[in-house]
Amino acid sequence: MLNTIDKIREEIKNWQAENAEQLEAIRIEYLSKKGKISTLFNDFRNVPNELKREVGKSLNELKNFATEELNRLKEEFSTQETTEKSNDLTMPAMPLKLGTRHPISLVRNEIIEIFSRLGFTVSEGPEIEDDWHVFSALNFPEEHPARDMQDTFFIQQNPDVLLRTHTSSVQVHEMEELEPPIRTITPGRVFRNEAISARAHCIFHQIEALYIDENVSFADLKQTLIYFVKELFGKDVQIRLRPSYFPFTEPSAEMDISCTICNSKGCTVCKNTGWLEILGCGMVDPNVLDSSNIDSKKYTGFALGMGVERIAMLKYGIKDLRLFFENDVRFLDQFK
Ligand code: DAH
Repeated sequence: MLNTIDKIREEIKNWQAENAEQLEAIRIEYLSKKGKISTLFNDFRNVPNELKREVGKSLNELKNFATEELNRLKEEFSTQETTEKSNDLTMPAMPLKLGTRHPISLVRNEIIEIFSRLGFTVSEGPEIEDDWHVFSALNFPEEHPARDMQDTFFIQQNPDVLLRTHTSSVQVHEMEELEPPIRTITPGRVFRNEAISARAHCIFHQIEALYIDENVSFADLKQTLIYFVKELFGKDVQIRLRPSYFPFTEPSAEMDISCTICNSKGCTVCKNTGWLEILGCGMVDPNVLDSSNIDSKKYTGFALGMGVERIAMLKYGIKDLRLFFENDVRFLDQFK
């Protein structure tokens, strides 16, 4: 039997196949149930006991060799086939998979578009800021908790270098650089020293709007808010303003919209209140105008700021904020 094994091994070395049919013929001749190698396995029981070990080993090696060769030949002609195919210049190109826009970009663009219809232009500011633009010029008192390391990322060597915690800092740049009337909207990333969870992240996006001119009133703010909300969430949505406090606006308010998820009937998202908090706003504090050399006797203005993730979560019914940052295509593919 050892002789036969040797003989078959030599035959295998001479195997040649140019296509799948020839390869299959070889497989049948050698490895199918009645093939040459399988027959040897059947004859194995007649091998005298003292030779079984040696013959068994050779037989297994032969079978492995045959299988390997078969696979090698298969690969050889399949790569041959693909190179032949790729040389065919008349073949249609492979379709390119188009990406989709990130939901945060979609919502941001929609908000920008709504405000641009009201004459707001887009402005941007630095993410790495100083104390003046993020806090002092916005009327934050010296001991305000936002100035704490717990809430804000500072650079250790220089406490005057920090990552902006809100896009309100860009208001200050705009007021320093421009003369009223100022009507601008600022999208951007902001950073806070927060533990990451389904509801909070250390990086997120905000959009800020600022309007300064003569005779700008709270009524202008309210009308702008109503227009914005109806454009973004639909004409049936109601708004509610709750008095609030921000150092840079006086008076200040937080705006809720009627819950778009349960139609104000009460659900887990609106915590059975029928209302969802969307943004902060108010009339720019005269101190803030004066800090940036805008005459607060002549000019008034309103400002508002909102979190883009929060709005995207409500718009698309997303429950976990972290999804926006993980870049899982199964999530991202759903937004067109
Ligand atoms: N900057 C505030 C924040 O990050 C949001 C905000 C509130 C912006 C009121 C404003 C405003 O312009 O008037 O929470």
